[in-house]
Amino acid sequence: MAREWTPSSWRERAAKQQPTWPDATAVDEVLKVLSGYPPLVFAGESRQLRQDLGRVARGEALLLQAGDCAESFDSFNAVSIRERLRLILQMAVVLTYSTGVPVVKTGRIAGQFAKPRSADFENVGGRELPSFRGHIVNDPAPTESARIPDPTRLLQAYQQSAATLNLLRAFTKGGFADLARVHAWNLEFVAQSPEGGRYEALANDIDRALRFMSACGVNTESVPHLHEVDFYTSHEALILGYEEALTRQDSLTGDWYDCSAHMVWIGERTRELDGAHVEFFRGIHNPIGCKIGPAATADEVVELCDALDPERAEGRLTLITRMGADSIGDRLPPILRAVRDSGHPVVWACDPMHGNTFTSNSGHKTRHFDAILAEIRGFFAAHAEVGTWPGGVHVELTSDDVTECLGGAEALSDDELDLRYETICDPRLNGRQSLDLAFEVAEMLRSA
Ligand code: TRP
Ligand code: MN
Repeated sequence: MAREWTPSSWRERAAKQQPTWPDATAVDEVLKVLSGYPPLVFAGESRQLRQDLGRVARGEALLLQAGDCAESFDSFNAVSIRERLRLILQMAVVLTYSTGVPVVKTGRIAGQFAKPRSADFENVGGRELPSFRGHIVNDPAPTESARIPDPTRLLQAYQQSAATLNLLRAFTKGGFADLARVHAWNLEFVAQSPEGGRYEALANDIDRALRFMSACGVNTESVPHLHEVDFYTSHEALILGYEEALTRQDSLTGDWYDCSAHMVWIGERTRELDGAHVEFFRGIHNPIGCKIGPAATADEVVELCDALDPERAEGRLTLITRMGADSIGDRLPPILRAVRDSGHPVVWACDPMHGNTFTSNSGHKTRHFDAILAEIRGFFAAHAEVGTWPGGVHVELTSDDVTECLGGAEALSDDELDLRYETICDPRLNGRQSLDLAFEVAEMLRSA
């Protein structure tokens, strides 16, 4: 790996899934502006996340990575940010309290805008249109003009990420995440459901534990850990020009960091060893992720580890497996063994969403809650078999009461999907399904 790396060395490689911008000069101008803007996160924060993920790699903590499939420029407001955070905090507290293991909280948020697509064109109501590639590139409206990639969207993505991150920081350090408010994280439409009731009971236990500690003479007011959380941002770093423009050299260490988010990951469709994404990622010092699908071979995954984590550093690399409920039992164990034997101390996370997507009879792109749970169960079983630590989960969710994934405690059926099918990309778990999932995962961990 003596090859020289620079933030732009990816440009000598083939970059998949990049938009075909109509005007190259306009893109260059935007990227120049972006590269003069302040970083969104600081290198020290990314190093902190690497340390936290190091604990996950050692089997001492869990990773919860959750948020939208694709963030939207249209539903950008304080309520939407607050509600997504609230749901993630609620899931985190369920996992932490039920397992007694610390949870590293990371959102697919404040930058999760770009979407890889299987084809450059898609058929919308009988018309061939350029594919929607996420709000950072174009607009999903079914017209030719809406689909033209517009580089000023890169600036809008930056601004929205900055404002989102600002509010997340305020909420997580300013009182909203205080354990004394554990009851307030129960979403209204969830509170009446059985999962909501189960959560209320857990919140009561936490209240009682806090009162018990006060009664014992512990001054709970003065313990910042009870009142704040570290919450990190992450997204798929797909549009490499944007990521390059936000990549900065840390003045403390001289290392390069992609300052668009604390953690960034490589998608399943852009992880070729000799491709531009792997080239870009190998040089940044953030904690990074890489999605691993059912077609990946053990050798291929070890080669990726060698390229992305040559120093075998704890917390550097998270492998996010997305095998599908039916494949995981066969596919995952050989990969776990090969990576373990190679000495790369990776974090293993289970993405139970992307390998379980199908089109239902009603024509909706959906996922069944049972398949999602089955993949997580398969993930735990594979790790138990090999003796590795099932580090965490990576899920697509929204706090809204949507009807996008089938099943769950409310047993959503195919003809109900139409009621509130709101996603601009993949089907997400709603608030109830997400909370249910947190309880189920906690139970799997306890029995593991
Ligand atoms: N700071 C601790 C943690 O992050 C405890 C905590 C405070 C917490 N607020 C929380 C845990 C909200 C989960 C959710 O684990
Ligand atoms: Mn998705």
